[in-house]
Amino acid sequence: MSRFFDIVSKPARDLGTTNPPSTTPAALERRSLLIKLDSNESPFGPSARAIDAMRSALNAANFYPDDDCSQLRRELAAHHSLPPEQVLVTAGSTALLTLLCQTLLAPGLNAVTSERSFIVYSLAVQAAGGHLIEAPMRSGEDSFDLEAMVAAIDSNTRLVFLANPNNPTGTMLEAAMVERFLGQLPGHVVVVLDEAYYEFALHFAALRGIAYSNSLDYVRQGASVVVLRTFSKAHGLAGLRVGYGLGPAELLGYCARMRNTFSVSAVAQAGAMAAIDDHHHIQRVVENNMMQSRVLAQELSGLGYRVVPTSANFVFCDLGEDAAVVANRLQDEGVAVRPLGHWGAPNCIRVTIGTPEQNQAFLQAARRLGSRGSVDRPRVSTLARGS
Ligand SMILES: Cc1ncc(COP(=O)(O)O)c(C=O)c1O
Repeated sequence: MSRFFDIVSKPARDLGTTNPPSTTPAALERRSLLIKLDSNESPFGPSARAIDAMRSALNAANFYPDDDCSQLRRELAAHHSLPPEQVLVTAGSTALLTLLCQTLLAPGLNAVTSERSFIVYSLAVQAAGGHLIEAPMRSGEDSFDLEAMVAAIDSNTRLVFLANPNNPTGTMLEAAMVERFLGQLPGHVVVVLDEAYYEFALHFAALRGIAYSNSLDYVRQGASVVVLRTFSKAHGLAGLRVGYGLGPAELLGYCARMRNTFSVSAVAQAGAMAAIDDHHHIQRVVENNMMQSRVLAQELSGLGYRVVPTSANFVFCDLGEDAAVVANRLQDEGVAVRPLGHWGAPNCIRVTIGTPEQNQAFLQAARRLGSRGSVDRPRVSTLARGS
């Protein structure tokens, strides 16, 4: 046994390496042409406005950042019509997931979510010594079974995670469903409404004529709800690590005590402030996403794959064959996508919706694999039919 196994904490021992890596910058350097569609990042990068703000902030990099992110908090509070005490800025919304788990969980306590949801829920819960209960999804569908989630809650549950839209399936819960769900929960649980893909979901919902989310109303009403948002997706700042939560002031105050000092850099704060109201940039990103989601869905369906209608910036696609093998072959062709074996979907991939050029490169690579497959394996286009 290794030297430190007996002295590290139980969560550190038990955690294992369950977070499958995405392509690393080193891998990107080795393959300068790699098209990175594996981590739901923005294909457009930060806006010029955010880049200018970050450049200026670099001049003061000798100073520690504002630990409280006061100005960003105030601006977010104004943006969402909430008091600043109901906003907590963290180093990405994942950092807030970790803080919520450390603040509310301990050995013997649990959190509830759905199976096939955001992988960080499990990591954050385990790191806090808690237990994650994953309710089954609706059979034959790729969406949450909210009744099963309610049924999974017991007297030791402190947190419920609802990713809306969900990663990796891209499915959305309509506002009325979430509202009904919240009405069924006992008072000792805090619900995390994870809206990392908010801007995309809002756009999809408007086009489909449905109501996406009333999450901020619950926060304003004082419900035990924390809404997570991030600058990593539509704003194109994933590498900066800045996200935030909106929720009860008292609870966010406890979380703030638990956070690492100076965890959100001054550059990240400056970039986020410039990005909040950058409507032009966000509009461009969500419109491309909307149009290209149609292209991907149509073309992948044409190749015989089952594509789940998305409400986010990626598509979940059932290939009907070992997705890890296909993902490796695609990577050889210069395109990185995410195989979903870790999510219990070994035949499925998640593909970020890229620019038109990136998507065409991905589709061409998929077609090449399909036609080459006629020699050494069945044609891609016949694989998933009827599955
Ligand atoms: C559902 C969900 N929540 C949160 C995040 C993490 O966002 P951040 O970059 O703010 O930590 C992601 C990232 O992929 C996500 O899919």
